[in-house]
Amino acid sequence: MTDLAHLRADFPILDSGVHFLDSSASSQKPAPVLEAMDRFARTSYANVHRGAYRLSLAATDAYEAARRRVADFIGAANPSEVVFTRGTTTSLNMVAFGWGIENLLPGDRILTTVMEHHANLVPWQMVAKRTGAVLDHVPLTDDCRLDMRVLGEKMVPGVRIVAVSGMSNVLGTIPDVPAISSLAHAVGARVVVDAAQLVPHAGVDVSTLGSDFVAFSSHKMLGPTGIGVLWGRMEALEEMEPFEGGGEMISDVTLHDATWAPIPHRFEAGTPPIIEAVGLHAAIDYLDSVGMDKIYAHDQELTAVALERLSDVPGLVLHGPAGIEARGGVVSMTMEGTHAHDLATILDEGDVAVRSGHHCAKPLMRELGVTATARASFYLYNTEDDIDALVAGLRRAGEIFGVR
Ligand code: ALA
Repeated sequence: MTDLAHLRADFPILDSGVHFLDSSASSQKPAPVLEAMDRFARTSYANVHRGAYRLSLAATDAYEAARRRVADFIGAANPSEVVFTRGTTTSLNMVAFGWGIENLLPGDRILTTVMEHHANLVPWQMVAKRTGAVLDHVPLTDDCRLDMRVLGEKMVPGVRIVAVSGMSNVLGTIPDVPAISSLAHAVGARVVVDAAQLVPHAGVDVSTLGSDFVAFSSHKMLGPTGIGVLWGRMEALEEMEPFEGGGEMISDVTLHDATWAPIPHRFEAGTPPIIEAVGLHAAIDYLDSVGMDKIYAHDQELTAVALERLSDVPGLVLHGPAGIEARGGVVSMTMEGTHAHDLATILDEGDVAVRSGHHCAKPLMRELGVTATARASFYLYNTEDDIDALVAGLRRAGEIFGVR
């Protein structure tokens, strides 16, 4: 097992003894991230790109340094391809409304999947209604993988955009985005990846991923809430109109018209998340100091241990691919005759924190034939102790509900 237990001391909240198994919803923050934000707010804070005074120039430098750090972390050659947003949801809406409304015509096809989070589905439903484009979905195999055979059949001329999750927040399924991108590009479609779960756990290298847009959030990768990223290939960003108008996104404004600032600033209307950018920079430094390879290996190992130990719990059904190579550190489960919220409440009595509900993926719940699941998700600060506590809590729940 990749031993990262020594890192737990960096996460003050873990001192409470909580078995925190809900990092897919939001991750905990290590002291270096909290300290970097506090230090910046106390000593260097001002608005950015607006002041000629030294404090503002220093804050602007810190904000732009964060952009370069993100670009470096995801393998983007050009930092201008990194747009700061409020989070993955905003990034995906920016593509749907900024790219989709501009580029889709009646009858064009939007191809997405049945395992999408609502954030990569609902905006496309809204855009399909407005443009007359047709929304289509790729199903899953019986083993909860994306059905690549059907995807190949549906990837026909007329598909203009493919919206796919890089890692399902419910199943942990990691589809083959490079293969999907090749198929999409062969019919002239753009590809947008909801990488909210993928980037924190496996990282991405946009130079090999093949997609045109990648969206992710800071708060799931040890950074603060309130900031996310939309990376776009420059030629794809050039096809996009700004989604919001306002301060600092313009080149010139008259009473009747406006022209846009260069990319990425045209997509960052209003005061951006400045302290949060400093926090995201520190979070990436932290992740890199551990090593994304080690984090991925650690999450995979914990997932394998969890799947094995959970398979012995009476009445428990595990949802997701059987093979560990096709999934990340997320395990969704249901227990016969028991509601997921009851499972989560009983687990909480043993200080085990898991998410329960539909996980903002209602169509996927219907595909699975359930209304809700309980979900444990793992990150670099989790250990086998957390899994033992999870298993013990589930066994107790089974006893309480008379499951055999
Ligand atoms: N998208 C987050 C989750 O899966 C909030 O929990």
